[in-house]
This record gives sequence, C-alpha cells and structure tokens, in this order.
Amino acid sequence: MSRFYITTPIYYINAEPHLGHAYTSMVADAVARAHRLNGDEVFFLTGTDEHGQKVERAAKKAGLPVKAFADETARKFRDILPALNISHDDFIRTSEPRHHAGAQALWRAVRDRGFIYKGKYEGWYCTVDEVFVPETQLVDGRCPTCHGSVEKIEEESYFFKLSAFQQPLLDYYRQHPDFVVPSGRRNEVLSFLEAGLDDLSISRTSLTWGIPVPDDPAHVMYVWFDALTNYMTAVGYGDPSPDAKARFQTFWPADVHLIGKEIVRQHAIYWPAFLMAASLPLPKQIVSHGWWLMDGAKMSKSLGNVARPEDYIERFGLDAIRYFVFREMVLGQDANFGDEAILTRYNADLANDFGNLVSRATTMIHRYCEGRVPTPEPSLLREPEQSLTASAHSAIDKARRLTLAFDLSGALREIWDLVAASNRYIVAREPWKLAKSGTSAELATTLFVVADTVRVIAELLRPFMPGTAEKTLTLVGVTAEPQSWRRLATGTLTPGITLGETLPLFPRIEQSIEELRAMSTGESLDANQPPAAAAPAPAAVPSMQPPAAAPTPVPASGVDGLISIDDFMKVELRVAKVLAAERVPKSKKLLKLSVDTGVDQRTIVAGIAEAYEPDALVGRTIAVVFNLKPAKLMGIESNGMVLAASVEGGKPELVSFDTPPPPGARVR
Ligand code: MSP
Repeated sequence: MSRFYITTPIYYINAEPHLGHAYTSMVADAVARAHRLNGDEVFFLTGTDEHGQKVERAAKKAGLPVKAFADETARKFRDILPALNISHDDFIRTSEPRHHAGAQALWRAVRDRGFIYKGKYEGWYCTVDEVFVPETQLVDGRCPTCHGSVEKIEEESYFFKLSAFQQPLLDYYRQHPDFVVPSGRRNEVLSFLEAGLDDLSISRTSLTWGIPVPDDPAHVMYVWFDALTNYMTAVGYGDPSPDAKARFQTFWPADVHLIGKEIVRQHAIYWPAFLMAASLPLPKQIVSHGWWLMDGAKMSKSLGNVARPEDYIERFGLDAIRYFVFREMVLGQDANFGDEAILTRYNADLANDFGNLVSRATTMIHRYCEGRVPTPEPSLLREPEQSLTASAHSAIDKARRLTLAFDLSGALREIWDLVAASNRYIVAREPWKLAKSGTSAELATTLFVVADTVRVIAELLRPFMPGTAEKTLTLVGVTAEPQSWRRLATGTLTPGITLGETLPLFPRIEQSIEELRAMSTGESLDANQPPAAAAPAPAAVPSMQPPAAAPTPVPASGVDGLISIDDFMKVELRVAKVLAAERVPKSKKLLKLSVDTGVDQRTIVAGIAEAYEPDALVGRTIAVVFNLKPAKLMGIESNGMVLAASVEGGKPELVSFDTPPPPGARVR
C-alpha cells in the first residue's frame, strides 16, 4: 500500500472563509478521496495560519483579545469543512502548542547548522500578504502581488541565509523537473532563482502575536517561517515521543502541497531552502492552481469581492458547486465564478445529461423489471453493448489517471463522455419499444447494461460528488462499501438486487438568477439539501421530453480575439440525423426539422429553405449546436442550430461527413 500525504495551505483567519479557500480544500479533498479509492493510506491536512501582523490588527479592530479572536475565526474555518464534505484527517492551528514546539525545533535545527544570523531589517512590508518587499519590486510604491499599500519597517531581525541556497535549489529543480507544477509556475520560480536570492528576514520585534524565537523571546518568528512548518508539526515533527517520531518517519516528506498561485515563492523557494538548511527531506511536489475571479479580479477579502460558499450551496446544492468548480477550472488557469455559469452547467450537465440518464435508467427498471436489476443474456451483448463497455473502461482508466494527476476538469470530461455515450445507447436501443415488441431478454440485457454503466459512473464520481455518488448507487441498488478503483470494471452489478426509490438527483432549475438570489436566506448549510429553487425533474420515459435546454453562453474572447480550448469545449457540437422536415408556413427561409441528436429528439428551425427541399433532408446526417438556449422562430421553439457554411450572396451549405457518424457523436 502506498502512502499519500496531501496538504492545503493553512488559511489566514483575519476574515471569514470564502469560495477561494473552499476551492483549495475541495480539490485536495477530491484527490485525497481518489487516493483512498486507489488503495493508498492517505493523510490529508488542513488548518489555520493564526499569527502575524494581519491577525493581530484584525483582532484589535474587532476589539477582542487576539487569542479570543483567533479561536472565534479559526472555528469558522473548521466548521465550514463538513458543509463542504471535506474528508481531512487533521486540522492544525498554528496557535497550538504542538505547532509551537515544531516551529521552534526547526528554528534550532537551522540555527545550529549556521544558517541564521542577527542583523537589522530596513525595508518595506506588505501586511496583506505578510511579505517583505524589496524596494526594486514595488509597483507604483505598492505591493506587486496584492497592489495594497506597504509600510516601512526598521528593526532588529534574524536573517536566514537564503542566498546560500540559490545553487542548491537550481540543482534541485534541474534534477526534479516535476517539483512544481504546472510548468508555467516552475518557470517563474526558475527565473526568480536565476536572478539571485537575498537573505530573508525571519523574525520581528514589533509584534508579539507569534511564536517566540528560541533563546531570544524579544523576537517572534516571521509568520511564513512559522506557518510553513505546520506541514511537519502536524505529523509529529518537534515532538520527542516515540509515537510522534514514528509518525514523522511514516509521513514526511509530504507528497503534495496544494496551493494557490500567489504563494508559490514561499513554498517553492523559502520552504525547500529551510528544509535543506535543516537537512530534512523536501516535499515531493508543489501543485499550484489559479484564482477564482469575480468580474475579472481575484476574489479576495481585501478587494471585498468574495463569494460565500454558503450562499451558493443554498442555491444549487453542495455537489453542484463541487462539480462546477472542478469542471470549470483547468489546473493552473484562472476561472470566473458566478451564478450564470453555475446555472448553465447545472441545467446542462447535471439536470439534463446526468440526471436524465439516471432517471431514465431507474424509471425503466422500476416500470419494466419490477424494480430489480435484470439478468443480461450474454449472447445479446453485441456491438452497441460492447462499444458502451469499451467507453466505460476507457473512462475508468482515464478518469483515474487524470484525477490522481490533479486534472479534475479533464477527469470529469471523460466521465461526461461516458454519460453521453450511455444516453446515446438508450436512444439507439429504445427500451420502451423493446418493452412493447422486443424479447424480454433483449430488454433485460439493455437495461442491465444501462444500470451497470450508471453504477460505474457513480463509482467514478465518488471523489468529486461523494453525496451524489452514494445516492446514485442506492438508486441502482448498490449499498456496498466503495469499490477500489483498481478493481472497478463493467458487468459486476448483481442481477436481482432491488433498486432504491426513484428520486430526482438534480431537478432542473427554472428560476432566474434574480429569483434564486432572492430565495437564498443565508441560514443553514446542509450538504444534503437539494437546491432551494428546484423544479421537478422531467419524466423522460418512455416518450422523450423535449431537450432540457442547455444554455451555455459562448464566452467572450480575450483581447487577442482568441478563445481557449476550454471556452470552445463549452459549445457542444453534435452529429444529428434529420427525421422529418417541413416548410414553416409563411416563411421563405425557414424549415422546421425534427432531428435525432443521439440523446433526444428535438425541433430545430433552420434558415435553409431556399437551399434545400424538405424531403431531400430526411435521413441526412448533419451537425448541430446542441447546447444553445431555445429560441422562438415564427412561433416555433427551436432547440439548437444547424451548422452550415454561408457564402456571401450564395445559399447556405450544410456541413456534412464523408461517412455519417452515429447521432450524438461530438464534433470538435
Ligand atoms: N496563510 C497563507 C498560507 C500559508 S501556507 C503555509 C495564506 N492564507 S490565505 O488565507 O490567504 O489562503 C491562501 C489560499 O487560499 C491560496 O493559496 C489559495 O489556495 C486559496 N485562495 C484564496 N483566494 C483564492 C481565489 N480567489 N481563488 C482560488 N484560490 C484562492 O496565503
């Protein structure tokens, strides 16, 4: 069994937890859960960073003794974790005695090896980031990171000989190319290192809220020296008991420090240098993610533009928020947070794609198989079944690898490809027709394959949406303990087991953003509550509902006019087959098409009447925009758009294929 030790940053307690903090904890949680499913022994640490000038001042402002203030705000960070369904193993506070002992032990180890000396610090300090800023790095006299004001300080200070570690760090980076990921961050660190390192002031005399420097209590440790050590003190460093020593041996070095991009320097330069100075092993990897932006600016307390996780959980439910943040943010890049984008993903991916799949699968088994998983007939596992099984195996393999590599967005994309393949399989097999005219073995085999694939999808969703995964498994009758991802395979659902009661997992939200906001009361945080504004899910069996609209706005392009691949992937282009076509009365240009999208049958109104005769279109394979907001054209609701080339002055020319792919295939 491998061990896996993962940490989040420890959060400053000068303000309440916001979505940015919650995000880091959720990502660490998903990866920790994936490692547990992988059979690893996991230790997942989070906590609070309580010392320093910022907290001391916030307490003063609140009119509270600093310890009381720290207890109160640290509690908020601890209390939000169950509401986010975080599966941490320990929560460390830097005000705890165990941490003081560890930080002092590290100081002594570094000092005794000759890397600490006393001097005088004269320069600038940014209290928001708790960093010393060299004069040359000020931007218009302000902090280059948070753009806040800086203060001049001049005081006696201990210094760490950081300059001695320039070459050892450069050598280390060359030998360990994956020490910092993504590579863009690593390159920034390398440029910084190559420019040369100044020694670092690591103590303060002008504040008292900190850990006393060993043998010189007039100084408290610089908050970053103190804070970084938490990663070791939580696993026993500085505690002389045999138990603690064994724990430290077992878990140190950490496998991953997960952090936001603004604290890479402290983790990728200072921390390894402190550890090298103390002759201790370095963490194996530093994974840095981007920022959640609100209206283009980093969500942060100092800018006052933070999203409270509670509000969004109340509007959409916890798992919808977890899904959104994992799916939307590509590792290392920034992403925008907001109701519109969440609502779009909710209705398109969760209500329409996933919710409808589970609802169809379970409703049909209840209806046609007395609510028990049917027994498949092996000789009927033919091409469509084998193809779905192959998609499931590919999803298992890729989702596992991508999740363990922190590519949560990529992993979810793979899982959703399997959701789409399952929906297409249902449409192709038409179980409601088999129930009327097929053999019972055909129907049983089809529904078994669907339910079994839903089980696989739910097992894959465990790290991302643990509550939803459990509920979905109960819906297909599975109550067993989590299955190891190493053994996860298709075809293992037990025939004959009884399904749970049907219930909508992600009821479509019909309310507007304004209505949703108005309905938020900001009262309780219950991870199991469905969203406040949920409307009943559409029953999709046996007659297909019109498509649940999946209105994904096309994102604005950047200043260079280019969009990212992720932006492009939001537009779902799919293959569709024309089932029927007719002219729209009183319109010269419009045709009303009924198309099979592989997922559903829907109406699309297209402006191609001058170029195509309706009859000639029936049976033709075309490409459509699948997730376009519905629109009314000549009183007819159009759900999607047909892709056609338009030449100036010419007639539209439908996009076509050499060999028609099956309806539902994604066009990319
Ligand atoms: N206390 C230090 C970390 C010390 S670790 C030894 C600190 N704390 S913090 O409260 O400011 O939280 C920082 C972390 O919260 C970031 O590194 C990041 O993981 C997360 N985030 C805070 N704002 C964020 C966004 N707007 N977006 C994404 N994550 C953000 O720095």
